[in-house]
Amino acid sequence: VMLRVTPGIKPSTHSFIATGQVDSKFGFAAEDVPRAIERIDRLELAGLHAHIGSQIFDLAPFEKLGEILAAMGDYPLLNLGGGLGIAYTAEDDPPSIETYVESLLRGAPDDVTVLCEPGRSLVGNAGVTVYTVGTVKEIPGVRTYVAVDGGMSDNLRPMLYGARYEAEVADRFGGDTLCTVAGKHCESGDILIRDVMLADPGPGDVLVVPATGAYGHAMASNYNALPRPPVIFCSGGDARVVVRRETFDDLTRRDV
Ligand SMILES: Cc1ncc(COP(=O)(O)O)c(C=O)c1O
Repeated sequence: VMLRVTPGIKPSTHSFIATGQVDSKFGFAAEDVPRAIERIDRLELAGLHAHIGSQIFDLAPFEKLGEILAAMGDYPLLNLGGGLGIAYTAEDDPPSIETYVESLLRGAPDDVTVLCEPGRSLVGNAGVTVYTVGTVKEIPGVRTYVAVDGGMSDNLRPMLYGARYEAEVADRFGGDTLCTVAGKHCESGDILIRDVMLADPGPGDVLVVPATGAYGHAMASNYNALPRPPVIFCSGGDARVVVRRETFDDLTRRDV
């Protein structure tokens, strides 16, 4: 086994996805690690594990993490978790995978095997969500709402911690209509994108939101009894369904 420790590192990211700070529900505090190790009775301790958080651009905490874990004892394995951030909008400029890996290795001793467990940085930018516009509501001088056939049930991140996304009308990139993309759920907070420029969107248009490959499908729900959308892998002009669209029968299948 590996022991999950709280290294006392607070990376620069939203507090809901920071996990390595002292005040965290995850892991053993540094002072409790020796006691926890003593109690790992019949199991073999392979090393220490920590995951400091997610959507992190500043790599210095990863370097520090290796140093902190190494200082807790001599173990052949250190698992430094995931956390590398990705670009959700044009303003985001995440570090490369190479520099991330260098930071992980720099802090840890040379004779230790360093593991990492990336999630978002592997799949986040591989996914786009495709919505259909239902209605457009213009409140003159206030806001133009573009309502789509999904929302907080397929992407909770904007509502959970203010995550920002961009969007385009699939066949008309660019545009100069300032819009708010709203989901179809019965919550005023069900807003996918607060402000985005779109090309004169109208009912029936297909709206594409990039960078939804991580923590979208995985966090999806059936709120308001909405069947979840399918997952479709596309490559080189081919498309294949890998998770089929949910049906209304699926929604009642467990009812007794
Ligand atoms: C223990 C652990 N490892 C790795 C990850 C993946 O993190 P990320 O997607 O930021 O790379 C998570 C995400 O919650 C996690 O809890």
